[in-house]
Amino acid sequence: MRHNRIVVGITGASGAPYALRLIRRLTEAGIETHVTISTLGKRLLFDESDIKRCEPENLVDGGDASLVIVHNDNDLGSTIASGSFLHDGMVIVPCSSNTMASLAAGITTSLVHRAAAVTLKEGRKLVVAHRETPLGRIELMNMERLVEAGAVIAPLSPGFYLRPRTVDDILDFMVGRLMDLLGVEHDLATRWDPSTAH
Ligand SMILES: Cc1cc2nc3c(=O)[nH]c(=O)nc-3n(C[C@H](O)[C@H](O)[C@H](O)COP(=O)(O)O)c2cc1C
Repeated sequence: MRHNRIVVGITGASGAPYALRLIRRLTEAGIETHVTISTLGKRLLFDESDIKRCEPENLVDGGDASLVIVHNDNDLGSTIASGSFLHDGMVIVPCSSNTMASLAAGITTSLVHRAAAVTLKEGRKLVVAHRETPLGRIELMNMERLVEAGAVIAPLSPGFYLRPRTVDDILDFMVGRLMDLLGVEHDLATRWDPSTAH
């Protein structure tokens, strides 16, 4: 059963432009995109992408704002906090180590945490696009716990085999890989083709 709905959580790790590009590409694919943003996520959107107000028209990066629904991260009574809300998967991008630790411990004090925990318990796809370097033992153990619980860890770690020339190319490469994981079709340049290699 297709619902054409994806949930996007944005947290306080570096990489806000990835979130904006993903929201744009999801709306271009006709996906109803439900967004919730942690307090530090809002700060990173401002620091890295000059987003002052987290309204759909500011988050969509040129895409279709009518397909974007923003949920207050403090509202644990929002629709996406419930397993009865049907969707095709959730991605947290960028995902901080703090949020990853909360998810691994099953602590749900924000809507990002709660929507992700519900996604896991309902057996839906949860993609964790973590960003931090280097990784310590705690982060690695939390990743292992989340994988055991059914999540996919997709570090924000773009490849260079297609020879990106611009930051846009790098954003679209990484976003395309996330869309693959979410099962959303796209025509972004992500596929390795040995016949075109130098
Ligand atoms: C400018 C800035 C950049 C940050 N970058 C990262 C990062 O890349 N990865 C990370 O795990 N935490 C990063 N942090 C720390 C998190 O924002 C912090 O742990 C916060 O508690 C995360 O809260 P959240 O998970 O609710 O968004 C950064 C903080 C700031 C202010």
